[in-house]
Amino acid sequence: MSLTRRQFTALPLGLALPAIDSAFAAETPSLAQAFGQRMRFGMAVRPDQIRDTALAAFIAHQCSILVAENAMKPASLSRGEGQYDFRDADLIVDFAAKNGMLMRGHTLVWHQQAAPWMFKDGAGEVSREKLIARMERYIADVVGHFRGRVYSWDVVNEAFQNGEGGAKTDEAGMRLSEWRRIIGPEFIEIAFRAAAKADPDALLFYNDYESQNPQKVEAVRKMVRGLRAKGVRIDGIGHQMHCARKWPRVDDVAAAIEAFGADGLKQHVTELDIGLNDMPTDTKLTAATDELLQDQARRYAELTTLFMSKRDKLGAMLTWGIGDAYSWYLSWPRKRFEAPLLFDTRLQPKPAFHAVLEAARAAT
Ligand code: G3I
Repeated sequence: MSLTRRQFTALPLGLALPAIDSAFAAETPSLAQAFGQRMRFGMAVRPDQIRDTALAAFIAHQCSILVAENAMKPASLSRGEGQYDFRDADLIVDFAAKNGMLMRGHTLVWHQQAAPWMFKDGAGEVSREKLIARMERYIADVVGHFRGRVYSWDVVNEAFQNGEGGAKTDEAGMRLSEWRRIIGPEFIEIAFRAAAKADPDALLFYNDYESQNPQKVEAVRKMVRGLRAKGVRIDGIGHQMHCARKWPRVDDVAAAIEAFGADGLKQHVTELDIGLNDMPTDTKLTAATDELLQDQARRYAELTTLFMSKRDKLGAMLTWGIGDAYSWYLSWPRKRFEAPLLFDTRLQPKPAFHAVLEAARAAT
């Protein structure tokens, strides 16, 4: 899967490409290789990166599992009821298959980047029955389209909330999204049943942020127990892991992995990044310092060591982006400086890369 040095240096590196150093991968060890097969290493990618020969080679060299950052969300795929544009998503999924990588499907049911038409009916709001039918059809079509090519689906994303930002939830801690509000809490069960029907072989995950928060851990475990009691298949939990330099506590992450593991759930670290600010709510930084980058590296090492030590429960660790030039923090929900990834804006390995590499090698 990974490129040899000769193959890599033979790649055309045109002037139109982003300002990255042509030696960026030839000299850089592969994290996919360092992690091995028991715990895959991967990244969230964008279609334009796969279209770019040099970036695609970089991705193939570093990853053994991929996820689409946006291209497989309903807002990207759906063009109206029963109408889809699969071109960007197919590009990524086919690229993963050609390079021997697994593919995570992200995501089917979420309160953001949904297909807005689904919630409307004429000038009013869609009825419960119609929304269930639309959701079932969407899942059947999309999961069916990728059947056999997607290893695991984030069937439902971020259904629970911890009251952050004063948000209102239902009594189970469930976010009052349009799904929850119009369908009721059963939207989760309906989504998992539809996904299981559409691809009996894909692993079905529930994915969330702050998944180490004890309150959320208990709410999600209760939800999983409820689903299983009704014979609904749910295979795993995705820990997003959007971290800051001083948050969350590693002990809390370890406890969450143990708790979900005790329920026999598979787990993936699905969206790892570690911002340079102390806490997720801090936005004061405007530039990196050596000290901050070293501290970020130490945090990455600490978490990677934990994840590697839990390989019987954790099957993959993916970073949310390929390098600091492509982090979501640069645009969403507002521009802020975090430089949270393993490669810098020129895709050169940062201290964090070397720390992850060493931690993975030490564990294998
Ligand atoms: O494609 C349009 C473009 O045409 C338009 O000009 C531009 C103007 O704002 O917007 C572009 O769409 C943006 C899209 O990213 C692609 O860049 C959307 O506005 C923006 O909302 C969207 O943000 C994404 C965000 O999810 C939306 O919720 C981020 O890229 C993506 O990294 C982020 O990913 C989420 C995970 O799916 C779930 N967990 C949290 C994670 C980070 O927020």
